[in-house]
Amino acid sequence: MFDHLKELPADKILALMQAYKDDPRETKIDLGVGVYKNPEGVTPIMRAIKTAEKRWWESEDTKAYTGLAGDPAFSDALIGLVLGDVVSREQVAAVATPGGTGAVRQAFELVKMANPEARVFVSDPTWPNHLSILKHLGMETVAYRYFDEESGGVDFDGMMADLKGVKPGDVVLLHGCCHNPTGANLTSPEWDAVIKLMNDTGAVPMIDIAYQGFGDGLEADAAGTRAVVKGCPEVLIAASCSKNFGIYRERTGLLMAVSHDASKHKVTQGNLAYLNRQNYSFPPDHGARLVSLVLTTPDLRADWEAELEDVRTGMLELRKQLAAELQRLSGSDRFGFVGQHRGMFSRLGLSPEHVEALRRDHGIYMVGDSRINIAGLNQKTVPILAEAIVEVGA
Ligand code: LMR
Repeated sequence: MFDHLKELPADKILALMQAYKDDPRETKIDLGVGVYKNPEGVTPIMRAIKTAEKRWWESEDTKAYTGLAGDPAFSDALIGLVLGDVVSREQVAAVATPGGTGAVRQAFELVKMANPEARVFVSDPTWPNHLSILKHLGMETVAYRYFDEESGGVDFDGMMADLKGVKPGDVVLLHGCCHNPTGANLTSPEWDAVIKLMNDTGAVPMIDIAYQGFGDGLEADAAGTRAVVKGCPEVLIAASCSKNFGIYRERTGLLMAVSHDASKHKVTQGNLAYLNRQNYSFPPDHGARLVSLVLTTPDLRADWEAELEDVRTGMLELRKQLAAELQRLSGSDRFGFVGQHRGMFSRLGLSPEHVEALRRDHGIYMVGDSRINIAGLNQKTVPILAEAIVEVGA
């Protein structure tokens, strides 16, 4: 049987992680995979998570199964964090999933179950795993223009022109904040225009929100998602806790299916639980438990918010420093967008040859499309990166 298996292309981001590990140079710099690192290059366990873990260890008295949808307290807490009070709880069907990727996967499967004809519109570019999962599920994808390589901003006219091609029941995948891989995000009026288009065409928005709190702050980063939920009759949302709670390996995410028609809740909730059962039965609980403890315990929540804010502002400082350094060394404003982008990532707009030269000659690792993880830098390595970019002639 195994003879029939074909070799599959490696995931580019994960292959890059390995290549970086294998590089013996001490001066190497990892700007690849989207994992937060502090100035010392460490991905720390957040203080509130560590404390929640201690408290939970003291009080946990069983490892018996949770429900198929996971712990309801986790769903309630995360729905509150992402959606605030824009909808009532009865309008949100939700299941815990293994990470944000699990939520994305279950969302696509739900779309397929509900409407096998649905096409999924994805930004060009998007997180490569979106495309890979859709391909694996045999779902049709349509790319819409998103990024203007020249300005480093959103090509909003192109995006809207391409989205005019959606049919009722098609799904439009949007990034809630901190667009991966570009770092370029929609403004509030642009979100409003997208919402109008969704309503005019009958397409269903799906939002992947994996970096809430990394861009402009917890509330600001959720504003687009909340506007969509308020303005559209049905919305799918895949939320990840990997980055903003720093619990990558615990695999903690939530899939939400919002309908303004509360009579849809029971069947939708049942379908989500069914999908969990078919794929892995019960979702992981440990990370979800830590998140709900942090969010519902005032001292832990305050400490988490403070630490997350430090993480966010630290990345913003690095952005500003890099934009200024590139301006100084290149004598042009070409890279000014780095300071405007938000979140962990910026797509620099370098050619594959430049990306390769940075890796080969300088030990600087970024994704092949020239996406950098800002958190892979610190004050000392920003000038090294800027000099290397200018030196390879980018
Ligand atoms: C990334 O884009 O680097 C992260 O979302 C990690 C991953 O799984 O690809």
